[in-house]
Amino acid sequence: MNARGRASAAILISGGGSNLQAVIDANVCGDSAMDIALVVSNRPNAGGLKRASDANITNICIDHTQYPNRRAFEIALKEVIDSHEVDFLLLAGFMRILTAQFVANYSGKIVNIHPSLLPAYTGLHTHQRALDANDAWHGCSVHFVNAELDGGPIIAQGRVPVQDDDSAESLAARVLVVEHKILPCIANLLAQRSIEYVDGQVHFEQRALHMPLIFDVDSGQIAKPCV
Ligand code: GRF
Repeated sequence: MNARGRASAAILISGGGSNLQAVIDANVCGDSAMDIALVVSNRPNAGGLKRASDANITNICIDHTQYPNRRAFEIALKEVIDSHEVDFLLLAGFMRILTAQFVANYSGKIVNIHPSLLPAYTGLHTHQRALDANDAWHGCSVHFVNAELDGGPIIAQGRVPVQDDDSAESLAARVLVVEHKILPCIANLLAQRSIEYVDGQVHFEQRALHMPLIFDVDSGQIAKPCV
């Protein structure tokens, strides 16, 4: 908790930062109990750094190309994060794979948003892969991060129907709209401790989840899990 008695997050980015902006906007208009302690990018030209500056949020670039190896980069990353009051790490378009060693420092505190209905389509090019597979549904997942790429217990998912005339770009754009709603929502629930990571499982309102929470795109709310 920070000096305001609120949970705070370090948000890690690599690109434009539209997901970061969604969390900033939710925080600014009082829709989220999650403060943002700092933004860290591994790329100097990430547009998200300007979004952070415009919102007067501390932002730092730790350029992974300036380090001899992944371990050295992660040591620098950890040093910056730990020098701020951080309760959670939100990976919002962060495109570096984090080692098990790094993840172990923040067990149950790292959350990622991934543009697919996990466990389908871990990794890249998720929208094209969903089209190639003729999937009827696609979407995004928010999950706790463990040592596996896009692994870890899934917290919530938001779905969009795949349309016959969809391209990877049009599908990605519709999924991104859902990402911008689900991430601030989950950040808020994490800050309120409505969602917790307990012994490798997602707990929602003190009950272990046996399936991801369904994010209702129209209402912008989590549908109550069927217990
Ligand atoms: C988003 O689709 C996110 O899920 C993926 O990167 C894309 C861009 O994110 N990881 P942002 O605009 O940089 O937040």
